[in-house]
Amino acid sequence: MNVDITDLKTVRLSQDGSAVIILDQTRLPGSEVYVSLSSAEEVWEAIYKLKVRGAPAIGIAAAYGIYVCSRLIVANTYDSFYSEFLRMKDYLASSRPTAVNLVAALDRMEKVVVAHSMKPVPEIVDLLRVESEAIRAEDAAACRKIGENCLSLLRPGMGILTHCNAGHLAVSEYGTALAPVYLGEERGYGFKVFADETRPLLQGARLTAYELQKAGVDVTLICDNMASVVMRKGWVQAVVVGCDRVAANGDTANKIGTLGVAILARHYGIPFYVLGPTSTIDLNCPDGDSIVIEERNPEEITDMWYASRMAPEGVKAYNPAFDVTSHDLITAIITEKGIAYPPFHMEDF
Ligand code: MRU
Repeated sequence: MNVDITDLKTVRLSQDGSAVIILDQTRLPGSEVYVSLSSAEEVWEAIYKLKVRGAPAIGIAAAYGIYVCSRLIVANTYDSFYSEFLRMKDYLASSRPTAVNLVAALDRMEKVVVAHSMKPVPEIVDLLRVESEAIRAEDAAACRKIGENCLSLLRPGMGILTHCNAGHLAVSEYGTALAPVYLGEERGYGFKVFADETRPLLQGARLTAYELQKAGVDVTLICDNMASVVMRKGWVQAVVVGCDRVAANGDTANKIGTLGVAILARHYGIPFYVLGPTSTIDLNCPDGDSIVIEERNPEEITDMWYASRMAPEGVKAYNPAFDVTSHDLITAIITEKGIAYPPFHMEDF
């Protein structure tokens, strides 16, 4: 690769543990600016405003965030510490609803607090740091394995289409959907990637095109409504996307527009692969209808990013941030534990 993409630090903990440091993704691709978050409000706002985004990355940010904030809790007893911890946990969990990784990471952190209730509060806080670092390290290891598993299904020279950003910027390192692309690049596969721009917030244009280009991968940016054309021309041999929540039956929530890409892929006979860590599987959700889809500010549709308004004043706008791709449109779901083919039984992971 041209550049070691891990130079970009999506989300990390400051050395002294007093702050979560994120690369502000709302400033990309123009500037690489790191911001320090040291209160629950700052962490909440960074997640809500997509300064840090992508299912695994928001889970890691929330885990680090609750550790940083737990250090600030003034409590004489375990009970008062725990009740303040729970208040912060609920608050951070309310920042975004769809990606299960956010709540899953916070639940893991709570388990540490509960399991060590007999210990002095400062010791519990130290253990929270250890757990948050473990969540990050497990994510990095999972991404690498997801990449290897998916690469076994790909061939050198393939054209690969992706939607949104499920790359290095969405996780601790490497990515999920982009992990096989990076591994392939290291091994000389010469993939040609088509990145959907991903309206309305342009994660494909601003983030996927940015990180792939920086890494020296052959990437071509297309508008969302061009995916059918590049498929029809025979330029795409596989679609790889990430996921925010995978239901027990394999229905998968991912960035709005993913469903349309899956339908196109089916039409053109192109395999459609969903890549994600097992932490994104939610067995409490039987199917896609039970997944809460975030609805965001209509201004994200009516006003262009960085530019002036482009839709008439007062027009109604519907702005779901995710959609659900029905399991019957998915060729395979690839996690760090292996590759699942239909019929999907996610409990087998
Ligand atoms: O709204 P975002 O940018 O957080 O949406 C991100 C996605 O939909 C990603 O594809 C998903 O979180 C997987 S990231 C590895």
